[in-house]
Amino acid sequence: MTETEKQGLIRDILKLKKERQAVILAHNYQRGELQDLADFTGDSLGLTQQAAKTPAKVIVFCGVHFMAETAAIMNPDKLVLIPDKEAGCSLASMISGESLRRWKAEHPGAVVVSYINCTADVKAESDYICTSTNALKIIEAIPPDREILFAPDQFLGTFVQKKTGRKMHLWPGYCHVHNRIDTEKIKSLKNEHPEAKFVMHPECGCLTSCMPLADKVLSTEGILKHCRESEDKQFIVGTEVGILHRLQKESPAKVFFPAAEEASCEFMKLNTLEKLLWSLEDLEYKVIVPEEIARKGRIAIQRMLEISDPGGYSRPPAEKPPAD
Ligand code: 13P
Ligand code: SF4
Repeated sequence: MTETEKQGLIRDILKLKKERQAVILAHNYQRGELQDLADFTGDSLGLTQQAAKTPAKVIVFCGVHFMAETAAIMNPDKLVLIPDKEAGCSLASMISGESLRRWKAEHPGAVVVSYINCTADVKAESDYICTSTNALKIIEAIPPDREILFAPDQFLGTFVQKKTGRKMHLWPGYCHVHNRIDTEKIKSLKNEHPEAKFVMHPECGCLTSCMPLADKVLSTEGILKHCRESEDKQFIVGTEVGILHRLQKESPAKVFFPAAEEASCEFMKLNTLEKLLWSLEDLEYKVIVPEEIARKGRIAIQRMLEISDPGGYSRPPAEKPPAD
């Protein structure tokens, strides 16, 4: 596509967005041109907060399916669209509502905390949702005598256990993209660039061996904020490579080295400018969550939003946390 064609496409998208009274939300792993065009680009928590408060009639979600489902759960009266319905998530597909129900039956009375990277039926079976930004806060809000089931990301779960000292049962799920990040490669990058700080996402499959090498373990938004505000000039970045677009844009004088160039999420990259335009034209693909699943999932998400940002969440208070 030539630059003129690209600019024409962007003009058409913005015009149609206005006509449809739509808002465009994009995750930090999206293609650079989608990040630049979106009304809001951020991490899973920021996107959920935006989805919960937007006055727009239509939400076009440039991200993966579980993220658009989260927006639909928070907005039962709005139209939520995803430009490519095949944009799934390997991690989210590692646990189903049915398998979570079976796990819960083995641990009666346990509190279920699910990472937001899960399907709507898993959210509906959970007591709390968390993201990589607020996982520590959510776990710390649960009384210490309660048994916790944590799903589906074993590495975020391990990170939370290490930081809080809290024992949890971990579902053995993982992200295939963050699994491509490897400790030996990080060691050699650190040798090549001794000035560079190493920042990583807690989904990294090498967590146990690469965490001791890390200067910071943060969510995508946390990595962006840290690199923007830090005095340091060089960073090795251990997460999906789409984040490099914003990192470089926000800190043009700094140098960023991907911990693994192959850590690119094929699902995230399915969304394109063309598909975004078709999505607005045809009002496809609609993301619909059955009412009862949405009602239950909303309770778990609202609990997260209230703990994550007390007083900052303006919806009616969520139902009380699960009792003993
Ligand atoms: P965050 O942007 O919330 O850190 O999540 C990363 C991720 O893997 C999303 O799929
Ligand atoms: Fe899922 Fe991993 Fe892709 Fe994130 S990077 S959407 S966790 S497959």
